[in-house]
Amino acid sequence: MTNEIRTIFDRIAPVYDQLNDLLSLGQHRIWKEMTVKWSEAQVGDTALDLCCGSGDLSLRLARRVGAKGQVYGVDFSPAQLTIAKERSRSQYPAPPITWIEADVLDLPFEDSQFDAVTMGYGLRNVTDIYRSLKEIHRVLKAGAKAAILDFHRPSNPQTRTFQQWYMDHLVVPIASQMGLKKEYAYISPSLDRFPRGKEQVEIAYQVGFASATHYPIVNGMMGVLVLTKKS
Ligand SMILES: C[S@@+](CC[C@H](N)C(=O)[O-])C[C@H]1O[C@@H](n2cnc3c(N)ncnc32)[C@H](O)[C@@H]1O
Repeated sequence: MTNEIRTIFDRIAPVYDQLNDLLSLGQHRIWKEMTVKWSEAQVGDTALDLCCGSGDLSLRLARRVGAKGQVYGVDFSPAQLTIAKERSRSQYPAPPITWIEADVLDLPFEDSQFDAVTMGYGLRNVTDIYRSLKEIHRVLKAGAKAAILDFHRPSNPQTRTFQQWYMDHLVVPIASQMGLKKEYAYISPSLDRFPRGKEQVEIAYQVGFASATHYPIVNGMMGVLVLTKKS
C-alpha cells in the first residue's frame, strides 16, 4: 500500500501544482495560509511541514518563520521532492528549508524538536492515522501546535452530493485529460475512508494531545485539525 501511494504521487508530481490551482480556482493558497497561521509558527521558529509534496505549504511556512527560522519539509515521493527543491532554489533569497525524503510514520527526528507542525492533504493518505498523529505529538515541543489541512466529508447531504459531483465530473475528467485518471480517481475512496472531524479529534485525544479542534472550512468540504501538545 505504501509503495502504491508513493507511486501515485510520483506520477502526479509534474502536474500537481497546476491541477491544484485549476481545481480549487487558486483557493488552496488561502486554505494553506490559514493552516500556517493556525500552527502559530512564529518568526525564528523551527517548523516542520509533513507530506510536503512539491513544497507549497513549506514555502509559506518558511516565509512565516523568516530567515532566522528553519523549516523541514518531509515527503516519501522523490519526484515531488525534486520539484520542491527546484522551486526553493529558484527563489531569492533562498528560503530556510531542508528537504527530507522519509516516511511521516517514522520521522527521522528526536523528540520535542519543533515549535510548529503543518500537514496539507497528507493525513488522508497515510496508512495509519493514529501513528501519524503519534509521530507529530512526539516531535512537537511541549505547548506547541500542529495544523492539519485536508478534504472533509460535509454532514449536509446537499453539500456532500455537490462534493461527489465535483470529484466525478470535474476532478477526474480534468485529470484524465492529463493521463492521470487512476491517480485522481483515488481521491474519492480515500475521502470515504477518512474519519470525519469529530473522529479525528477523538484519535488526537487518544494519542495524548492536550487539545484538539477540527475547524470545518469551505462549507465542511475541507477542514483544519488544530492540535496542541500539553505544556
Ligand atoms: C496530496 S499531496 C500534498 C502535498 C502538499 N502538502 C500540498 O498540500 O500541496 C500528499 C503528499 O503526501 C505524501 N505522502 C503520503 N503518505 C506519506 C508518508 N507516509 N510519508 C511521507 N509522505 C507521504 C505523498 O508523497 C504526497 O506528496
